[in-house]
Amino acid sequence: MPQRTHHQAPPAALAAHALTKHYPVRRTARDLTSRRTRRVHAVDALDLTLHAGRVTALVGESGSGKSTVARLLAGLEPVTSGTVSLHGDAVRIRNYRSFRAYCADVQLILQDPFASLNPVHTIRHHLTRALKLHRGGMKGARLARALDELLEDVQLTPAARYLDKYPHELSGGQRQRVSIARALAARPAVLLADEPVSMLDVSIRLGVLNLLRRLTDSRDLAVLYITHDIASARYFADTTSVMYAGQMVESGDSESLTQNPAHPYTRLLISSAPDPDGPPEEEVPSTDSGDPPSLISPPPGCRFHPRCPSAMERCRSEQPPRAGLGDGRWVACWLYADPAGETATAREQEPAS
Ligand SMILES: Nc1ncnc2c1ncn2[C@@H]1O[C@H](COP(=O)(O)OP(=O)(O)OP(=O)(O)O)[C@@H](O)[C@H]1O
Ligand SMILES: [Mg+2]
Repeated sequence: MPQRTHHQAPPAALAAHALTKHYPVRRTARDLTSRRTRRVHAVDALDLTLHAGRVTALVGESGSGKSTVARLLAGLEPVTSGTVSLHGDAVRIRNYRSFRAYCADVQLILQDPFASLNPVHTIRHHLTRALKLHRGGMKGARLARALDELLEDVQLTPAARYLDKYPHELSGGQRQRVSIARALAARPAVLLADEPVSMLDVSIRLGVLNLLRRLTDSRDLAVLYITHDIASARYFADTTSVMYAGQMVESGDSESLTQNPAHPYTRLLISSAPDPDGPPEEEVPSTDSGDPPSLISPPPGCRFHPRCPSAMERCRSEQPPRAGLGDGRWVACWLYADPAGETATAREQEPAS
């Protein structure tokens, strides 16, 4: 699939700034005596911007906080701190009404379409409900036309063949297409897709990703694509951001980031991916050099340092600053900062003498 080249980023549809989520951990007897509340640092100070007509991939291994980011952006959980803004306005979800209004703009698709579709209801029922909820007062011929259009949009045609089926009568790929159709019923500006193809058979993943790409382009959707699979991110996403242990460690144009990864963790992900040149492949193997750290007491300094082949002394104690690598790419790693602690960007911006 040809990646589009963008000279100028379109305005932000959804933006998160310093997004943080800490979950309290059930207190043990020892915590009670020490009066300490232990917390899981699921997401820490994450910045993320989604643009209309673009796919942004969020890549990282299991437990790195990807789904937590999706739930925060979808307004399903309150943030611990940080802000989310939609078309430049700070999002505040206070009640069901404001949540519903937000959902009309920001829709979430999950990994397992079986779990998100109700087995006792037909496809017609699911889509009709979504249409009535988001487009109000639809019935008769208008409703019938909208149902047909939704299924055509996800290439389930003729629509009549699918409308009166139950979720279990469809294939996994068809079920995921129905979930996408249901999300489209809201006419959202933003689609958050949390591992949308990882439960599907390898042979049909590409079809669903291609469908999402077409919808991104034709609807000017801002899409977040969450995945373990950095090879599929390269294929499918304009921008790729890499998460490690609740933090973002590197971000940039997908092609350049995957061709020339800067962060040692991104390099590790790519070297363990099956084939970075090919289309999405089978389940990506877990990175075998070490385990992800505890998120209850994350390592000090750079969270990747215990597994990093290039770890230096300061990596153990000081959080690495972001270093700009040009063309919107950046990496948070001490390897790219000069000894004085200034980042590459700071150096580049110094006037030439
Ligand atoms: N409700 C919760 N309460 C406590 N801890 C949680 C909660 N939800 C998530 N966590 C923890 O937050 C961390 C991040 O979880 P998250 O589900 O966001 O990871 P993920 O990157 O989506 O992983 P996967 O690839 O396996 O889906 C994990 O350590 C998880 O155990
Ligand atoms: Mg997840």
